[in-house]
Amino acid sequence: MSRRSSLQGLWSSRRSFVLAATGAAVGLGNIWKFPYLAGINGGGAYVWVYLSCILAIGLPIMIAEVLLGRRGRRNPIDGMRLLSEEETGGGWWRTVGWAGVATGILILSYYSVVAGWALDYTLRAAINLFDRGELAQAGRAFDQLRNAPLRQVLWHTAFMAMSCWIVAKGVKGGLERTVGYLMPLLFLLLLVMVGYAAGTGGFAQAVDFLFHPHAGLDGRTALVALGNAFFTLSLGMGVMMAYGAYLPEGISIGRSAIAVAVADTIVAVLAGLAIFPVVFAQGMQPALGPGLLFRTLPAAFLQMPGGSIFLLVFFILLVCAAWASSISLLEPAVAWLVERHAIPRARAVLIIGAIAWVIGFGTVFSFNRWADVKVFGQTIFQNLDFVTTAILLPLVGMLIALFAGWVMSKSSSADELAEGSLVGYRVWRFAIRFVAPLGIIAIVIHKLVR
Ligand code: PHE
Repeated sequence: MSRRSSLQGLWSSRRSFVLAATGAAVGLGNIWKFPYLAGINGGGAYVWVYLSCILAIGLPIMIAEVLLGRRGRRNPIDGMRLLSEEETGGGWWRTVGWAGVATGILILSYYSVVAGWALDYTLRAAINLFDRGELAQAGRAFDQLRNAPLRQVLWHTAFMAMSCWIVAKGVKGGLERTVGYLMPLLFLLLLVMVGYAAGTGGFAQAVDFLFHPHAGLDGRTALVALGNAFFTLSLGMGVMMAYGAYLPEGISIGRSAIAVAVADTIVAVLAGLAIFPVVFAQGMQPALGPGLLFRTLPAAFLQMPGGSIFLLVFFILLVCAAWASSISLLEPAVAWLVERHAIPRARAVLIIGAIAWVIGFGTVFSFNRWADVKVFGQTIFQNLDFVTTAILLPLVGMLIALFAGWVMSKSSSADELAEGSLVGYRVWRFAIRFVAPLGIIAIVIHKLVR
């Protein structure tokens, strides 16, 4: 079978690939997750570990994933099987594709619940349901939502349906083009918010909180930072591999990956700079948990002239960013069912979407009815998040680094990265062979001993 035969299409340019990959990368991970985790984990030290992981571990692995995707030219499971056979004669490394696809379904299950919260807020902002009391009561709207499982289930269902619809129609291109317009808008709006936050009086404290390490990190927190570096860049579950499969020859993988990682990191930092000044100016606690974004922003915006419009636009953009990410979470599993098992696309989407949808109930209930159901002292959502983000993503990432750095022949990887400079290739190869795997191992050991 020729490499090309399973290709459905290629990105037309570097720009379209970067846009699609940025669409997958920028999402709830940047705007919802990064700030709340920085908040729970004490700021500074967490943020620096997170940023270092993006640069030293995430970036080389992103390049590796795209490279493997382009070389395999098909869905992550079959692509990894092919490369595995090509490089080793056996198919063991397809496990990477498997683990990635399973992790994607688990992440999608709670991703959709949180995106559902954003939908709920969009509607509220649209019909002006936030009242000024929101300010005094810091997050009453969020408490109401958190304690309303049925409402969350409905929004979770709506969001899952939106994502399935796009993936089923296979019109990702349309959404990605839209994302091309929405992303700069989101960026601008975040800048405005940071500008506003800078005037609230909490800005200096926020910068200090976010960038000044106040204490060391315990092992679990460092592992969480590592996992979230993977999460935010959409690594360790085949997304970048699936997108790389559509990357034409001759486009520089290294430069594309750097562009995606930089854009993604800027959005996360801006989100932090928009949220924490409000936290401090309003005398809130940084460790508000998963509700942080949903508690702080309405309180801040409603004080500002025309704030309810801003709030509406912001949540619409957040939903769109989450939407572009969620379709990328669905795509690898769906592509595999379609290409491998010849299941019609619509049915494949329905199967994967239904599984993630049902698992999502666990997350909804862990904020209310099952809030007291604890495993290892954590709720269902916390466990699901920890296992997928802090364990599975780095594990798959590690396997990808080992495969690209040690198993794959130098000539294969040099061939794929030939568009870049020789120095760039050497730096990447050193990073993927040593820095990334040893970095992951060091963080895991740190977790085991502390
Ligand atoms: N990177 C996305 C975000 O930050 C989430 C995601 C993770 C998407 C893994 C695809 C794969 O929201």
